[in-house]
Amino acid sequence: MTHSVSSRLRGPASGLAGLAGLAGLALAFALGGALLPACGSAPNSIDVRGYPPDMQARYDLFEKRCTRCHELERPLNAQVGAGGWPKYVRRMARHPAAGIPAEEQREIALFLEYHAERRRDAQRQALEGGAP
Ligand code: HEC
Repeated sequence: MTHSVSSRLRGPASGLAGLAGLAGLALAFALGGALLPACGSAPNSIDVRGYPPDMQARYDLFEKRCTRCHELERPLNAQVGAGGWPKYVRRMARHPAAGIPAEEQREIALFLEYHAERRRDAQRQALEGGAP
């Protein structure tokens, strides 16, 4: 998260243009933070404090292994159907130099399935909560 921001700011922008860019970026982040959860998308990280400890440990692994080539936002925003993650994680692990052992692939897929299930539950509850 932080490195992507700083790499964008390190561009040719300077002086007032740089400040305007900074303000625009801050606004985009503020808006994104407010709007994304509402439309079911996920940001670049998730708050797993309410998750069981084993799932928190798997999240750490997921964060470590799946951010080498792209940001976490990639898998967090992916539309992968229920039960689809084991296959998807295997596909990622087949990239040359991914370096994700089979055992860790299983752990990561377990987390992603669990997280997706919780997200579906939350969306269902939000819909039902809206009814009188
Ligand atoms: C070795 C590099 C590498 C690693 C490690 C890696 N990925 Fe990827 N990932 C890619 C590349 C390259 C793409 C884009 C091309 C593609 O879809 O294969 C991608 C794309 C994706 C996408 C988006 C596909 C789409 O259709 O938009 C998802 C989701 C994803 N990765 C999930 C993961 C997960 C989960 C992990 C950890 C288990 C992971 N990646 C680890 C290289 C990697």
